[in-house]
Order: sequence, then C-alpha cells, then structure tokens
Amino acid sequence: MNYSARDDPESMNSNPDKRDLSGQEAAALLAWYVSSGADEAVGEVPVNRFELPSQSARAASVAPVVPAAFGARQTPPLASTQPAALPDHTIDALATARELAGAATTLEELRAAIESFEGCGLKSTAHSTVFCDGNPTARVMLVGEAPGKDEDRLGRPFVGPAGQLLDRMFAAIDLKRTDEDPAKSIYIANILPWRPPGNRDPSAEEIALCLPFLLRHIELQKPQIIVALGGVSSKQLLGTSTGIMKTRGRWADISIGERTIPVLPMFHPAYLLRQSAQKRYAWADLQSLRARIEAL
Ligand code: URA
Repeated sequence: MNYSARDDPESMNSNPDKRDLSGQEAAALLAWYVSSGADEAVGEVPVNRFELPSQSARAASVAPVVPAAFGARQTPPLASTQPAALPDHTIDALATARELAGAATTLEELRAAIESFEGCGLKSTAHSTVFCDGNPTARVMLVGEAPGKDEDRLGRPFVGPAGQLLDRMFAAIDLKRTDEDPAKSIYIANILPWRPPGNRDPSAEEIALCLPFLLRHIELQKPQIIVALGGVSSKQLLGTSTGIMKTRGRWADISIGERTIPVLPMFHPAYLLRQSAQKRYAWADLQSLRARIEAL
C-alpha cells in the first residue's frame, strides 16, 4: 500500500535522544515502540527452521487457505499476496478461525467468536476488537481494511478523519450509518478486526486468518451490495491482484455461500483525504452506487 489507509502515525517528542527523558517521556517512547510492533521480532511459537519442509511442499499445504465461499469465477483472494509458505501454527489457527466463524449463526455470535479467537497476533497489540458499525439490516455493506488509532481506541470502524469523510460521501447519496431504514443505511466492517501495530500493512498471514470471519460476516449480514474500500479490501473480495486504480468503479459479482453479490470497488477515503483531485472519481462511483440501489 503506498498510502496510509488508516490514520496518521502517532506524534513523538522531537529528538528525544538529545536530552534526558522524563519518566513520562520514556514511558511514551516505550509505548510507541510497542505500538510500532518492535516487540514482535520474536514470535510466541518457536520455529525449528531445520525441520521446515521444502517450499513446494509447504505451498501445497497452503491450498486450504482459499475461502471455500469464493465461487469458481474467483481467483483465490490471497493468490497475489500470500507467501509460498505458512507455518504449521498458522494453518492450525486458520482451521480454528474457520470452525469458529462457521459455528456462528448470528452477528452477535460472530462478534463473540472473533473476540474469543487467539490465533492472530494482531489481537495482542490491539486495544479493541473492531467488529462493525451501522445498521445490521442495511442493504449496503462497506468493507474497509483495518482499524486505525481512533478506531482501536473507540472500538468502531471509520471514526477518525477518514470515517468523517466517508460519512459525508455516503450522506451525499442519502445513506447513513444511523438510519433505521435498510434502504437508507450502511453497515461497515473491515477485512481485519484488529489494528496492525503502528498502522503497518497487514501481512498476508494476518489477512488469511481474518478472512473466514469476514466471509461469515457477509453471509450473516446478507448485504445486497458490497462496497470495497481501497486496494486491500478490493483485492481480497474480488480475488485479484489488480490494484484499485484499475478496479475502482467497475462492478463485479462475487459468490459467498449461496449468494451472488455485486461489489463496487472504490477509493479509500484516507486516500481521498490526501488526493482530493481523485474525489471526482469517488463521486462518479457514488452515483453508480445510487443507481444500482434504485434498481434493487
Ligand atoms: N480505515 C479502514 O480501512 N478501516 C477503518 O475502520 C478505519 C480506517
């Protein structure tokens, strides 16, 4: 990702090494290192690299990562980003994620299932599990990438500056998170329910571990239309390695469970905050969304 899809990096005192740090400053510096993932260099599970099988054997074992919910028309969502190998503990965690997601029969059960899942390291550095916002009966579901700092603090998606722009954009076509009418509201989720430390890009492994929950989320919320916000979301949902610059504005159908759902890739609002000249494309996409809603 060549832009920060979430919020800005935390601000630090300037040049802290040029003078003695107070206790408070030292604690803030330490917190910043932790939030940047500096403590993640050592994994929780030891890896015996002498016993790792060959790349090709591992690549074969990765096959089950592809979400069964994606129909034959779809390329595997992780085809472009997944490494050739996933460690055994990740493959086990993925099986657990699928089991937990599959057992959930309501959105609240799914939220509890995600909260109980210990297989993704992001959970240990995040403050909140950010599950959803908006009207659960909305016909339109927006799927972003991952929570940023504000979302992690408040436990709701898109509540920072990008979220404020998102609210204005969708209000312009008469869609609000808070409206009780399914035809006039939106529901919001993310590919990842936990903030990557320091807003770094999520790894293919982290995405793989969270995808079963998102797919079940879509099955349970039953949107009639999905809007994929930004490159990470659209690549995963459409199962393509093509970037958002080419896919935005082009409707595509995806199969999830028994349903076929139209997906509209759009620029991420964080990108639009930085590149306001691109807002005209977002406006065109919103008009296209409005027309599609009218046709439902
Ligand atoms: N960006 C996202 O992709 N999701 C959020 O929830 C917030 C910012």
